[in-house]
Amino acid sequence: MNLDKNRISGSVILVTGGAGFIGSYLAEELLKHSPAKIVIIDNLIRGSLENMKGFIQNPLVEFIEGDINDEILLEKCISGSDYIFHMAALRINACAANPSEGFDVMVKSTFKIAELSRKYKIKKLIYSSSASVYGYAQNFPTPESDNPYDNQTFYGAAKLFGEQLFRSYKHMFGLDYIALRYFNVYGPRMDTDGKYTEVMIKWLDSIRDDIPPLVYGDGSTTMDFVYVKDVAAANVAALISDVSDESFNIGNSIETSLKDLLDLVLKINHSSLKPVFIESNTVNPVSRRLSDNSKAKKLLGFSPKVNLEEGIKKLSEWYFKKTKTLSQ
Ligand SMILES: NC(=O)c1ccc[n+]([C@@H]2O[C@H](COP(=O)([O-])OP(=O)(O)OC[C@H]3O[C@@H](n4cnc5c(N)ncnc54)[C@H](O)[C@@H]3O)[C@@H](O)[C@H]2O)c1
Repeated sequence: MNLDKNRISGSVILVTGGAGFIGSYLAEELLKHSPAKIVIIDNLIRGSLENMKGFIQNPLVEFIEGDINDEILLEKCISGSDYIFHMAALRINACAANPSEGFDVMVKSTFKIAELSRKYKIKKLIYSSSASVYGYAQNFPTPESDNPYDNQTFYGAAKLFGEQLFRSYKHMFGLDYIALRYFNVYGPRMDTDGKYTEVMIKWLDSIRDDIPPLVYGDGSTTMDFVYVKDVAAANVAALISDVSDESFNIGNSIETSLKDLLDLVLKINHSSLKPVFIESNTVNPVSRRLSDNSKAKKLLGFSPKVNLEEGIKKLSEWYFKKTKTLSQ
């Protein structure tokens, strides 16, 4: 990647949801490439000032605590921007619990962002999509050409709408965009105390409290884990590349069962706790995930750097430091 002629240097870049888990790493990554300004809009429903503490004082960063449903605010942010990363979204369970709110954030606001991007001639938009668009995929490893007709979730439907919306704006109005379909993103700054924490955090809670970790189902469900910094790097690569009007899988192309993941989490944390298997109650009906990431490797130069063991070590260190500080 030729950083001398990258698009970031001297540009104003808007990150919706930039106080969140992935967005805060993206902001850090962007700051390494001399932007004119990074504008973050986030209502802190899940994101936090803590996530941004490494850069919020940077004079190149403007944080706006606000809602992407606020059209006037959105227009103010977009009118002065060159590029947009659209990351603000609700979690899959939050969409299922409140589809109306899911519609406002994931569909209506995404439409407003497309409209304003066209109006203010945004040079390129990078959209955070999801492996959820596939539902239970037809092929494993799953290429981007798999169809989305098995998706059963509101969240997956909304992400697919976003991809198709930006595609239509490219063809109707020339708005350049890339959609990144993240698989299972993990790492420090994952939500530890919200309503919808991920399984890794629940297991770290069990280790901290010395109680048996719960596994929903028989542990055979698989996921394709990708470290959060690798996802931030994929976003930067998507902006810098000349590719437009494409979707990319962002995963490690390694399938890990929940059972194997738990064994790894326990081993890394020197725990001899034994899991308890209980009936699955998840909103996400998909029991298998494995990306084919060759397209992102070829066209974006995506190359995941952190393997699962290293990543879980980093997550565990961060988690125990954080929860120790909180309990003092
Ligand atoms: N984490 C994953 O495994 C994963 C997988 C696939 C896709 N994604 C997508 O990646 C993006 C980032 O996800 P994340 O894991 O960082 O989640 P996150 O919840 O940490 O980040 C989303 C951010 O958006 C903000 N937000 C939500 N609604 C908003 C609104 N109405 N106005 C302004 N801000 C609002 C939240 O406060 C949060 O900071 C999302 O679009 C998500 O759907 C994540």
